[in-house]
Amino acid sequence: MPKSVTKTCGILTSGGDAPGLNAAIRGVARTAIDVYGMTVIGFENGYRGLIDNRYRVLKPSEFSGILAQGGTILGTSREKPFKDKIGIYGPESPTPVEAIIQNYRALDLDCLVVLGGNGTNTTGARLAAEGLNVIGLPKTIDNDIVETDVTFGFHTALCVATDAIDRLHSTASSHNRVMVIEVMGHKAGWLGLYSGIAGGGDVILLPEIPYDIHAIARHLEERGRSGKTFSIVVVAEGARSLEEAALDKKAFKKARAEMSGSIGYRVAREIEAETGLESRVTVLGYLQRGGTPVAFDRVLASQFGTAAANMLATGEYGKMVALRDNKVVGVPLDRVANRIKTVPLDHRMLETARDVGTCLGD
Ligand code: F6P
Repeated sequence: MPKSVTKTCGILTSGGDAPGLNAAIRGVARTAIDVYGMTVIGFENGYRGLIDNRYRVLKPSEFSGILAQGGTILGTSREKPFKDKIGIYGPESPTPVEAIIQNYRALDLDCLVVLGGNGTNTTGARLAAEGLNVIGLPKTIDNDIVETDVTFGFHTALCVATDAIDRLHSTASSHNRVMVIEVMGHKAGWLGLYSGIAGGGDVILLPEIPYDIHAIARHLEERGRSGKTFSIVVVAEGARSLEEAALDKKAFKKARAEMSGSIGYRVAREIEAETGLESRVTVLGYLQRGGTPVAFDRVLASQFGTAAANMLATGEYGKMVALRDNKVVGVPLDRVANRIKTVPLDHRMLETARDVGTCLGD
């Protein structure tokens, strides 16, 4: 058996779930246990389980049949340990971060592997700054983690969203309607942009390009004049108008709190008001996150998981596993922390969308 610096490691999944998490857990644990003989401790429900010391020693039998399963066998939560400075059981008890450090030490962990998005990897970086050994993996359907070309979960969500857009085409065409489809992505437009291109959206609205409803109306009316009887409008959940983009953070939050329904509904109302075209809305929601991962995500997550185990073996701590120019590498966690990757305005895919006649709302 090859030598390993890490003898015992913890593993948790945190933040919104994403297809490929189980493939990644399997990749880490199978390699860690079978190749290096490590003990792998799985914490329940993300950082919550680490705070509450809820864990189980993972057994090889647990990884059979999970490759194709959505969700996460460890459970997840949006727990943010650094947020609460008060004791977990009252004023005299340890804070969440102190509890994490105590549990990590008591279990004699050599490293903690955290599978998650921006929040998870930022917490991982902060725990590393507190003296823990941490390795991160980039998971999210939003694809908004810096320092990696892609995250696992994104391609599955992309396929789900593309399939939904394909299905909307026939009903849009039958009824001569404008179909607005709202997709996830948080503050980044990757999912909207890629599914919009793959599904042939006529308009794609992204958070990165504030939209002008008059420009959208002109585009839809022009389509009508050229004989097109329906249109598909893909709206990323973080999309915003030109007017909203001019607001400060507080005013924007207030405007959004007062808005009726989500952004897709507002865009549909605005289109109807501007053009008189009958519009309908589909909010795809959690369907994008649930269910079985596509092959790409299974392969990527397996690759990331096994790479993490190899990093555990060599003691390459304080890093997030990433894909850079088709190579799996480790990037310092503190370069990932507190940053999000949005679509750059000179991204080639924006040009592709425009070249095929898509209106990006500007
Ligand atoms: O993290 C991915 C994501 O799916 C975002 O696209 C979305 O804004 C968010 O999670 C919603 O998830 P939840 O309701 O679990 O907070």
